[in-house]
Amino acid sequence: MSLPLPYYNDDPKSFAYPTIHKRWPTIIQDAIKDVESASEKPGKSEILSRLNNLLTAFKNDEVVREFTDTEVKLVPELAYYNTSLEECNKVKKVTWQTGPWLYLECYLYQFINVIFVEFKWQNYDVFQNLKTQTFKSSEFGVLELCKRYQSLSKQLESVKDQETLELLFNEFIDISLWGNATDLSLLAGNITLEDIKSVQGAEVRKKNEENILINDLSKAWKHYSSQSGKRIDIVLDNSGFELFADLILSLFLLDTKLAESVHLHCKEIPWFVSDTMPKDFQDLLNQLQDPSFYPNIHKDEPEAIKLVHDEIENYFKSGKIVITHDPFWTLDYNYWSIPRFPVYKELLKSNLIIFKGDLNYRKLTGDLQWDKTTPFKTALQELATSKLPVLSLRTCKADVVVGLPQGVNEKLIEQYKNMGNEIGEFWSSSGKWAVISFNQGI
Ligand code: F6P
Ligand code: MG
Repeated sequence: MSLPLPYYNDDPKSFAYPTIHKRWPTIIQDAIKDVESASEKPGKSEILSRLNNLLTAFKNDEVVREFTDTEVKLVPELAYYNTSLEECNKVKKVTWQTGPWLYLECYLYQFINVIFVEFKWQNYDVFQNLKTQTFKSSEFGVLELCKRYQSLSKQLESVKDQETLELLFNEFIDISLWGNATDLSLLAGNITLEDIKSVQGAEVRKKNEENILINDLSKAWKHYSSQSGKRIDIVLDNSGFELFADLILSLFLLDTKLAESVHLHCKEIPWFVSDTMPKDFQDLLNQLQDPSFYPNIHKDEPEAIKLVHDEIENYFKSGKIVITHDPFWTLDYNYWSIPRFPVYKELLKSNLIIFKGDLNYRKLTGDLQWDKTTPFKTALQELATSKLPVLSLRTCKADVVVGLPQGVNEKLIEQYKNMGNEIGEFWSSSGKWAVISFNQGI
């Protein structure tokens, strides 16, 4: 079967188009401001000049270059990018404004990273300030989840009947799913901090239930509850509120003994602005403990936030919450290739692998222009029969969506236009709809 084409940056009906013309320039401009405000260190002016050159390269639609030997020496994964670029160039010379969206977006974050590595600013996360500031403004959502967890925590250990466990599983998965509505790379486009706050509460989650277009959760539950092993892996997406929601899900899984361990997979470099790196987990623990970070929660519900913090820390110390990372997650490769990489061996030990968020979904499905009724299993290609049970929790923030019933895409295009949006197809990048898709891997 021949595969559909990928999404390209010059397709005005693809979310790639506003991405290259608006969102990426804003992300780079913000990065420049961040470096400008950093303390004086060798390399600062060179870094600034490289970032400014990148802005010019977008504007002038320059040809995208290979990573140099020096860069590949500094970051060996870049060799994979060069191989892919050679392949893409065979189809059409890759330029910033016309090349394949997914490839270029991954390339962009590696390109930024290697600049900092070259000038020995390795531990500098250019998105750190934005991550911290946005998590700080998530106080309302954090408070609500702390209270919900506190009200349940004493009972969780004693819940034994499958029906109640499944209901609770659904609720905590829902919390983790909508935690994905807070992606900071979208702040560079059409979403505000106010919007983010407004998607963090229980009431909104309830209201949004009808916006979950595909819900395979009962299939996932049936698969997981019939397993003898009890390990869950979460391929994380964003730090801050989404990571907090994923940790609340982890507490639920461990308290109820639904899981014996939860393995959280992080990125090794600053990625798509807000993705979780191992140090973001440590930062989050410190922020929960710091009364000046969330003054209201510490004043009104000090016990609830302490409970959540201590539980996470205890599970982490006892090895039940495992923080892990692998360079595979920041390659441009889609996830059909997982079986060819070392990370596969680790994932085979899992009884359920939860892939969080939009980018993971794009990589699961290859970010190709699939017809939206294509079965999820088909879009997973080799991964579909790799023995990895895949559960994707994704709020839709890009073009690719599969598994929809006939007619739903057309209806949503109309509906989105009627909501006052010029391009109806952008319903799938608005973050207002979500999908929960499962494939058992056999
Ligand atoms: O569509 C906006 C976007 O920034 C995409 O470029 C990217 O796939 C995605 O959002 C990142 O979102 P998430 O954090 O959910 O993976
Ligand atoms: Mg992300």
